[in-house]
Amino acid sequence: MNLSELKKQAIEEINRAKSSVDLEQIRIKYLGRKGQITAVLRSLKDLGEKERKKLGRDANELKNSAEALIAQRKIELLDAEASGEEKKIDITAPGTKVMHGHLHPITLITRKIEEAFLSMGFKIIDGPEIESEYYNFDALNIPQDHPARDSWDTFWLKTKPEKFLLRTHTSPMQVRFMEKNNPPFRIVVPGRVFRYEATDASHSHTFYQLEGLMVDKHISIANFRAVVEEFLRRIFGREIEMRIRPSFFPFVEPGFEVDMKYGGSDWVEIMGAGMVHPNVFKSVGYVPDNWQGFAFGVGIDRIAKLKCKINDIRLLYSGDLKFLNQF
Ligand code: DAH
Repeated sequence: MNLSELKKQAIEEINRAKSSVDLEQIRIKYLGRKGQITAVLRSLKDLGEKERKKLGRDANELKNSAEALIAQRKIELLDAEASGEEKKIDITAPGTKVMHGHLHPITLITRKIEEAFLSMGFKIIDGPEIESEYYNFDALNIPQDHPARDSWDTFWLKTKPEKFLLRTHTSPMQVRFMEKNNPPFRIVVPGRVFRYEATDASHSHTFYQLEGLMVDKHISIANFRAVVEEFLRRIFGREIEMRIRPSFFPFVEPGFEVDMKYGGSDWVEIMGAGMVHPNVFKSVGYVPDNWQGFAFGVGIDRIAKLKCKINDIRLLYSGDLKFLNQF
């Protein structure tokens, strides 16, 4: 018998089943250990590769649809079989638990971080994930052929003549925002970023950052420190030990990195930051001597990892419900 005949016959019998006992016999006939569909699946191994591929796909499809159909028919039959007596509602029986969906831990932590900055007067801004080379690099004082570009392994899109890329950080939004707005202001930009690099327990090719930018006439590193301290206090619920280390990013001068300690951990880097570089102000048409500002880029995943005590960042992107249902 060929597959489509087998399918037709199985569907007919399933639909005609008069009772759940009947249905179980039918299930065994087709899907049991010695069932007809099972036999087809078992015979695949004796076929040549080409034939096996084609027949394998069809046979598996048949198996899946037969299983689904039987499951559905079973519900109908069991329902019909529940006689008058059993159908009476037992109001003392425990109810069925309603499963609720919930937000992803990254979304939850992002919202919490946004709230912390909103409370300090920052506005939340969104930006595009597909960026031009200009915003992602040039306008941020990272010219073509500058060795610093290598710090951001980039996914390039195959577009011509203009080159587009998946943004490697949220920093391009500093430029986009300043082009259209004048100081004083303070903003944060949460978003997804992409790096063309190998993944491990603390790196992923796709992750989340939150960019911050505050510009006014007299902004200093002390302002930056106060903002970060308050941010950490709000996220972790208490005073957090932090330190600022000198570092280099082309779009800031001086540049630094911020580390924190939490729950017995060693120092963990959570953000890059610095005082906005005059060249960045120039690229958006500001007069550099008139303005000062700090900028920072927090790794949202890093914060989630610390706060939720996760040892492998890849769990956040696994879609594994056993993991996700804990939040
Ligand atoms: N964009 C940097 C990165 O992804 C992080 C960063 C460093 C952001 C310094 C900043 C900054 O705003 O001032 O590696």
